[in-house]
This record gives sequence, structure tokens and C-alpha cells, in this order.
Amino acid sequence: MAVVNAGSDVQSVVRLTEMADYVVPFALRAACEIGVADFLEEGPRSVADLAELTSTHPPSLLRLLRALACRGVFSEVEPEVFALTSLGKPLCTGHPRSLRAAYPLLAADIQAWAMFEHSLRTGEAAFDRAHGTDYWSHMANNPADSARFDASQKAVTGREVKALLPAYEWGGFATIVDVGGGNGAFLSAVLTEFPSVRGVLFDQPHVIAAAGPVLADRGIADRCSVVGGDFTSTVPAGGDAYVVKRALYDLDDEGAIALLRAVRTAIGAQGRLLVIEPVAEPGDEFDWGKLYDLLLLTMRGGGSRSRVQHEKLFAETGFELVRIIPTRGLSIIEARPV
Ligand SMILES: C[S@@+](CC[C@H](N)C(=O)[O-])C[C@H]1O[C@@H](n2cnc3c(N)ncnc32)[C@H](O)[C@@H]1O
Repeated sequence: MAVVNAGSDVQSVVRLTEMADYVVPFALRAACEIGVADFLEEGPRSVADLAELTSTHPPSLLRLLRALACRGVFSEVEPEVFALTSLGKPLCTGHPRSLRAAYPLLAADIQAWAMFEHSLRTGEAAFDRAHGTDYWSHMANNPADSARFDASQKAVTGREVKALLPAYEWGGFATIVDVGGGNGAFLSAVLTEFPSVRGVLFDQPHVIAAAGPVLADRGIADRCSVVGGDFTSTVPAGGDAYVVKRALYDLDDEGAIALLRAVRTAIGAQGRLLVIEPVAEPGDEFDWGKLYDLLLLTMRGGGSRSRVQHEKLFAETGFELVRIIPTRGLSIIEARPV
């Protein structure tokens, strides 16, 4: 049999078994849900204490912590006494790069993954099949899921801004419109760093309803207006930059074209469109965008695009690609109206 990069079959079985595992991802998410890492920040604790603090069943919590300890997230320093490891630290709520909210255990997502084969056979979002409704309608009708989804986006954005802010001349714009900007985590970071810039946060009405506290916390509410609507129909005019961060890839080509056309109608001749998402190129190279691509297909029917695919979408909607600035994980894809 002709195979590429042949290794031993035993190594292959070990690696595939590790890759196919879904216990660790669920265990990690459960640990985030109960916030157990927070109680280990001051030092090791017994399972009995931790179970009381997290309202969990002691023998089951022991099993969770042991499972994650064998992956290095916690350490069993004495029998039934656990400590945090350096790997586990970012699971603490107060960590400067906290990932705790980034890993929600959303039953609706998991049910969609169970139907991934539907996406594979049809190209349609398995989420819609599993729930009889699309992702965003589900979120609009389930405030608890929506709040946890938005919190996960905020947690991820907190990490991303560290790479995105120094990578682009944000301070050169008078007004930045963040299209699909969630609860304002990215825009408020830009406005905090660049006091001369004003912002317009645009997202679905039920999402922007939660933006007030985020903007107020940063002290930038007076420089940022908040507008609710549907970005596939119209977006606010008056910006000299339109940011579309991790929102274009949620859409199939039809939806993406509708969004870009709405921005094209609103943007001035000298404006800039800044699509911020992974650029996934063909080939074997590791790219987080290639993995996330499957989540986008399953949940929302979208996907990560290559440079050529972006160029094609821009050409169809009255834009041309200026440059792509890679940052850690996400790229800034700059386009201008033509
Ligand atoms: C993956 S999230 C990204 C949020 C934010 N830009 C970020 O990077 O953290 C996609 C965002 O698009 C918004 N969205 C989805 N469909 C929309 C629509 N039709 N009109 C306006 N916003 C929409 C969602 O509410 C969500 O906040």
C-alpha cells in the first residue's frame, strides 16, 4: 500500500487514539463550568473541600481531577489532594489570559456535533438539523446559551487583541464600525488604546443589549454608539473603517456576499474593510483555521476561506484586497472599495 510519511502502525494507533479522544475536551469544559481551578489558586486542597466549594459529588469530582491530572492540568500532590499546575493556571477566572469562559459546555453545540455526518453529506449546518433552527435564532431564543456564547467570544477576544492591536494602524481612523462586534470586547480594546478614535458597535439587538457594561467598564461609552440590526441587510454608515471580526466566516458565500454588499453601500470611497479571521490555505500545514473550519460548518454552515476565496468574494461585492497581515491565529485582511 502506498502511504505518505509511513511510521510504525503502533505509533499510528497511539496517535489516532489520542486525536479521537473526546473525554479530555468534555472534562476540561466541565472543570471550567464548576470553576474548580479558582479554588486551587491559593494552594492544594482536598477533594472533599473542593466538592463542597463547587457543589459536586466528591467521588465523581475525584475522577474528573484524576483524569485531568493525567493530562497535566492538575496534580494529585497527595492522595485525594490536588494542586493547580502551570498548564491549568489559565483556567482560573482571574488569570490575565483566562480561558475559563472560552470553553462553555453547551448542550446545543454538543447535540449538533453528534450530527456532524449530516454536514459532511450535505454541506448544511448540522446545528439546524439537530434543533430545527439556525444558530443565531437559537441564541436569540435562549438567553442563557447566548450569554455564555458571548462570554466565550469576549474571553477569546481578550487573548486576540494582544496580537491584533500592535499589528495595524488603528489610531489612523476617525470612526471604526465593528460589524458583528458581539458585546464590544474588541472595539472597546481599540478605543481604550487609541483615545482619538470613535466607535460604532453593530450586532443583533439581543447581543448589543449586553454591551453597555463592557463599554462602561472601559470608560469609553461616550465615544461608542451601539446599533442593533441584521448585517446581511444594512450596516451603519459613517465609518472610515469597517471591522468584520470572526463573523464573515460564519456565513456561507451567499450570506457573506450579502454582508459585504451591505458594508460596500455604507463605506466611503477612502474607507477600509478589515476582515479579521483565519486565512486557511490548502495543504498539510497545521493551521488552527482548518480545525475551526469544521466547527463553522457544523454550527453555522460557514467556513474558513483562503486568500483566493476572499479575493473572489471581494471582487463580487465591489472591494479589492490590499494586503493580508498575519497575526497569531487570526489575519487582518484589508480591502478597499473599488
Ligand atoms: C463569532 S461571533 C464574533 C463576535 C466578535 N466579532 C468577536 O470577534 O468576538 C459572530 C457575531 O456575529 C453576530 N451576528 C450573527 N448574525 C448576525 C446578523 N445577521 N446581524 C448582525 N450580527 C450578527 C453574532 O451575534 C455574533 O456576535
